[in-house]
Amino acid sequence: MTLFKGRKARATIAGVVTLSLLLAACGGDDDDDASSGKGGKKEFEFFSWWTGGGDSEGKEALLKLYADENPDIKVVDSAVAGGAGTNAQAELANRLLADNPPDSYQRHAGKELAADIEADEVEPLDSLYDDEGWKDVFPESLLDLITVDGKLYSVPVNIHRSNVLWYNPAVLEEAGIAAPPKTWDEFLSQAKTLEAKGKTALTIGPLWTQEHLLENVLLGELGADTYSGLWDGSTDWESADVIAALDKYTEILKHSNIDSAAADWQPAIDPIIEGDAAYNVMGDWADTYFRVEKKLKWETDYNATTAPGTAGMFNFLSDTFTLPKGAKHRDAAMTWLKLAGSKEGQDAFNPVKGSIPARTDGDASLYTGYLKTPFEDWTNPQTTIVGSLAHGVVADNAWKTEIDSALQEFVEGGNSKDFAAAVTSAFEDTQS
Ligand code: GAL
Repeated sequence: MTLFKGRKARATIAGVVTLSLLLAACGGDDDDDASSGKGGKKEFEFFSWWTGGGDSEGKEALLKLYADENPDIKVVDSAVAGGAGTNAQAELANRLLADNPPDSYQRHAGKELAADIEADEVEPLDSLYDDEGWKDVFPESLLDLITVDGKLYSVPVNIHRSNVLWYNPAVLEEAGIAAPPKTWDEFLSQAKTLEAKGKTALTIGPLWTQEHLLENVLLGELGADTYSGLWDGSTDWESADVIAALDKYTEILKHSNIDSAAADWQPAIDPIIEGDAAYNVMGDWADTYFRVEKKLKWETDYNATTAPGTAGMFNFLSDTFTLPKGAKHRDAAMTWLKLAGSKEGQDAFNPVKGSIPARTDGDASLYTGYLKTPFEDWTNPQTTIVGSLAHGVVADNAWKTEIDSALQEFVEGGNSKDFAAAVTSAFEDTQS
């Protein structure tokens, strides 16, 4: 299996020691039948990277519902810290290699999940979809991303938007800036005004947030068709337009705190909240950080708009959950998947998670404040939908690992042409 190799695999695992590892070491865990038959409480081990403020609140709401509805099942929450799952994915790869899967784990819809299907790590879930009538309630284009050879392999719990520009309205006002930028060129001119006032124009965190910014600069500069062509070979990474967009990215980063980048996405947002910085490009899980974790007021204390150049576009990703082959508590995992895919589960989870339901029948009255716009945009036929690089939709793990390494060199002082050449040659090596 080609799950994150090299740099990512060596990343420090900052998460908790999972109870399951402990149990496995003691040889104390059994399958569902055995553990329930012996009178012990059944268990469900849930694996995700939702730990920090802004990431964990939605998970807690959904796990609480699961625990309330299933008092006979003990929930073991094996979350591994680190935004975008950089650490969790490395730990998960080790567990899958050791045939010690959790009962259900988080994977992004798209190419990231496809690797597990190819490696025969996950069970098909078609009968669950048939029993629950789900084939009609999820968008077909989303189901396509979790389908291989006609079989469905995971349950999408949400839709997140990647192309969001978050900002502090007071910082803009203080600098005499009337509105957030509609293009990256406008951002570059605002950046000078902001810096003259002693503010950081744009904040940034670890490499995955730099990739998150990159995908949205490419989208904003190139437009949706050319952007989408980057992932299927129809856009030439070494063409003049792409090189110009990459040069723009380099310029933009010069107006960020890249030299003292934050350790994760939440501390990258803190300077915005504190009034020391103006902008941050981050997915809409940030809404939960501002609103729930920091108790700030939408539009007054924090605000958001589409990333420059991406009005009318929805750069999407989706968190999905799997049924791994060899899950120790398969029945408990099925009960979880049923809840995660239900209307009840999605409407309990998403308003807190800062996402919208993957199902098309979510209760619109629950998606207010920031969430009203993505809720409407996602189903608006005028919206152009594209997929995220940083969050597993468009590039498979083998290619993405190479893009990550090339990006690291690029941001550490490389140049656009070398980066484009490295991405192209990795595409040829990994996709042929
Ligand atoms: C994404 C994930 C989101 C959120 C974010 C930050 O990859 O899909 O749900 O958790 O990372 O950690």
